[in-house]
Amino acid sequence: MCGIVGAIAERNVVEILLEGLRRLEYRGYDSAGVALLNNDGAYNRVRRTGKVQELASAINDQNGVGNVGIAHTRWATHGGVTENNAHPHVSKDRISVVHNGIIENYQDLRTELKAQGYSIDTDTDTETIAHTVHSLLPSTGSLLAAVQGSVKKFHGAYGTVVMDREDPSRLIVARSGSPLVIGLGIGENFIASDQMALLPVTRRFIYLEEGDVAEITRRSVTIYNAAGEQVERDVVESTVSHDAGDKGGYRHYMLKEIYEQPTVVRNALQGRLADNGVVAGIFGEGAEALLANVQHVQIIACGTSYHAGMTARYWLEQYANVSCNVEIASEFRYRKSVVHPNSLLVTISQSGETADTLAALRLAKELGYMSSLTVCNVESSSLVRESDMAFMTRAGAEIGVASTKAFTTQLTAFLMLTLALGEHNGMTGEDKQTIIDGLHTLPSKIEETLSLAKSIEDLAEEFSDKHHSLFLGRGEQYPIAMEGALKLKEISYIHAEAYASGELKHGPLALIDDEMPVIVVAPNNELLEKLKSNVEEVRARGGIMYVFADSNAQFSSDETMRVVAVPHCNDAIAPIVYTLPLQLLSYFVALIKGTDVDQPRNLAKSVTVE
Ligand code: F6R
Repeated sequence: MCGIVGAIAERNVVEILLEGLRRLEYRGYDSAGVALLNNDGAYNRVRRTGKVQELASAINDQNGVGNVGIAHTRWATHGGVTENNAHPHVSKDRISVVHNGIIENYQDLRTELKAQGYSIDTDTDTETIAHTVHSLLPSTGSLLAAVQGSVKKFHGAYGTVVMDREDPSRLIVARSGSPLVIGLGIGENFIASDQMALLPVTRRFIYLEEGDVAEITRRSVTIYNAAGEQVERDVVESTVSHDAGDKGGYRHYMLKEIYEQPTVVRNALQGRLADNGVVAGIFGEGAEALLANVQHVQIIACGTSYHAGMTARYWLEQYANVSCNVEIASEFRYRKSVVHPNSLLVTISQSGETADTLAALRLAKELGYMSSLTVCNVESSSLVRESDMAFMTRAGAEIGVASTKAFTTQLTAFLMLTLALGEHNGMTGEDKQTIIDGLHTLPSKIEETLSLAKSIEDLAEEFSDKHHSLFLGRGEQYPIAMEGALKLKEISYIHAEAYASGELKHGPLALIDDEMPVIVVAPNNELLEKLKSNVEEVRARGGIMYVFADSNAQFSSDETMRVVAVPHCNDAIAPIVYTLPLQLLSYFVALIKGTDVDQPRNLAKSVTVE
């Protein structure tokens, strides 16, 4: 999704801006641009569709330099992918603006601005920000006041940086609904939509809060809250590794992240799991007492994180005896729902910035949940800051658009939450021990399962010319089948659907033929015999199956079935273990198809707009 970088310094900031944009490329974008302003008043705006590299070459060709600059990667929402729609947008050759989010009332603003004599030159909503700020300059007398006046007129979401060609001594930034972070330097300061962009230049950050407007000069940062009062915000020292954005010798970030899973799952468990259960206090101060009273859990998330929630529901009800609902955030936020007594709201998010999940959390706060917990990977994110409790997944920076290690660490977190809640709700000693033993063996089971890569790569050859596929699972493997289908469609562009295999004869059987590969996840659990019957239903209709089965499940390969034996593991961790072959399968199919694995078409890493 769109990315913002800004800088104000004594030195030339072009390389800082471009490196920042490169570090945000993983988020997905379709065009990029910069506006540069020199202390001597020289101004240069360069925009290109396509990759940041093309923008960099164009700036180089034009010898672009600037002591102040704003830069942007755009992921089109309003208006097509054209150079003219790329940011920065400009008003009257004076005000330049980059913006993430959506100004929902941009049509009304356009009408108003046209009446004032502004010509609308792009299809974007962002252009109205530039004109609105420009229109308020005469009456307000300063850029800061013009931005403060402008934001009162905007409905929707924005993270925006505004530069005045007539004043190279400051940048004004504003945040509402789209994250912005200020990076502090010595005699220079920076802005970005994600700290990742600024790690090469600083580790000291200020995270703006909702409604904040800030004036940034080379030597100062002055922040005003939504009421216009000057406020102090904490300076946070980032612990994220500067190299978090490197591929570490792997061909793609996605592959690197798949192979990081034994380590990050180990990190997620570190200091949190003892021999007799979870360590006290891991959900934060005061959480123990609160969890003791939870009678119901409402989980809200999107995409892969939603699949983690669906899996968690099986665990919470089966092991912890706590009732649980799971809902897609974009549905939850727009319907009337009933809040169960003593209900804990749990959001799940890799980024912590997903617009729908954040909006659902804000809505839930008004609905009377007893408390909110987020299971999240980004400590500085809006979801972490706005939730009562946060449980960090510790997956490290996830750059590949297709989520992998974030998912398995989310599931690891939910097994720990299951233990914590089960403690107060009559969880049996046997179930408790199954989860504890499973978690202790999890990192090594993941390592063992990753060694299947070569046989899965061979299997992938058979998929590359297919257009459709079906994923089947039962019980807590059903959401894993859904996650497998999502991964395949995201990065290989093969249509993939997932079904709970008991549903087969209620419709999807009609699709089965030898052109429709059927992928089955088959751990050795109490549903295995039922699953075997479903497999026979597919076989009887000429379907070709690819079965990831427990080594003891007694499936064998033949002309209609390819079996990959997955290391035996206990029931509690099976959903995590069976995720891995499905991740590898999608990766290898995408590799053979030659798609852009890390930045699949039309997708963005962090979905910060609705
Ligand atoms: C799929 C994927 C997306 C995200 C979804 C939610 O591979 O990455 O489906 O899971 O956009 O994102 P977060 O977890 O950041 O809220």
